[in-house]
Amino acid sequence: MTQVIQLDPEQPDQQAIECAASIIREGGLVAFPTETVYGLGANAMNESAVEKIFKAKGRPADNPLIAHVCDRQMLDLVAGGVSKTAERLIQEFWPGPLTLVLERKPEVARSVSAGLATVAVRMPRNAIALGLIRTSRTPIAAPSANTSGKPSPTTAAHVLDDLGGRIDMILDGGSTNIGIESTVLDVTADTPVILRPGWVTREMLMRIIGPVEQVEYGEQLRHSPGTRHRHYSPRARVILLERGSPELIEKVCRDHLKDGVVGFIGHTPVNIANPDFKPIILEEKAAEYARLIYSALRALDDQGAVMIVLEGISDAGEGVAVMDRLRRAAS
Ligand code: TXA
Ligand code: MG
Repeated sequence: MTQVIQLDPEQPDQQAIECAASIIREGGLVAFPTETVYGLGANAMNESAVEKIFKAKGRPADNPLIAHVCDRQMLDLVAGGVSKTAERLIQEFWPGPLTLVLERKPEVARSVSAGLATVAVRMPRNAIALGLIRTSRTPIAAPSANTSGKPSPTTAAHVLDDLGGRIDMILDGGSTNIGIESTVLDVTADTPVILRPGWVTREMLMRIIGPVEQVEYGEQLRHSPGTRHRHYSPRARVILLERGSPELIEKVCRDHLKDGVVGFIGHTPVNIANPDFKPIILEEKAAEYARLIYSALRALDDQGAVMIVLEGISDAGEGVAVMDRLRRAAS
């Protein structure tokens, strides 16, 4: 049985948080909201607890997790070699959607790092997440709380759909505000490298610390173990039109309607008078795409779409992270 507890995201009830924290301390699994997506948490210092995360998600064992901390001191429990550069980023962006890859401390459960010498750490900007970590008095390992390969969850209902019955508790704090996962930045190299683009952009990082490299889409495979696995994909086939004209979009959608329900997620209004055509029109803004893309993919899956056509946005600034997720969904 999975217990779902509704909480005020600004001022969560401390009794409920204590209940969740005791599950974490006893080695159980609790899903909780962050500002990006929902995470599936376990005590990061407890090997058998962390292994349960991999089992519940069906996550490949070679894909490492992010350790979540609630303050600067807790970082020292999981990571060492925190450079001046890393400290400056922490000052500027924590709590927030920036994950730092650092030297791993031996006390961290091995499977958090999937055998690597490094560990990914972040401090989420969400009162429920921070309260849970503080009350548990331990760093919490948490990947996104979806079944491996599915879009990340942005509501408690998404988590329940994927993991209901397989985890102990879900803390429901409503929809997450950003909607896509954190930026993952490797700061162990001389020049920091973005392994996964996110809401903290390369430009924002460079303003604080100077040169930052961005691993190209194909190159990511070698650097960030997680990115080589199938990711962010709904059941339906997905086509990405990086820059679609209204005519092209309409043609592609029409072509596939003979196969069944066709979903469209984009900013160009398309009119096709066919009950099997399911358009979801978003504003042409990175923030709107980020916030709604995963729930839109899930909604179209639930409606039995055989094909989902995605329309891209500008691949700059925050749009880089959005386009990264759209490409993955379509790959
Ligand atoms: O916003 C987020 O980051 C969410 C919330 C819950 O915090 N978490 C999340 O976790 O997206 P997950 O497990 O779905 O993605 C973690 C990413 C993966 O791509 C993984 O390969 C990478 O971080 N990662 C973790 N540890 C790493 C390490 N030591 N070196 C390189 N990449 C690492
Ligand atoms: Mg994930």
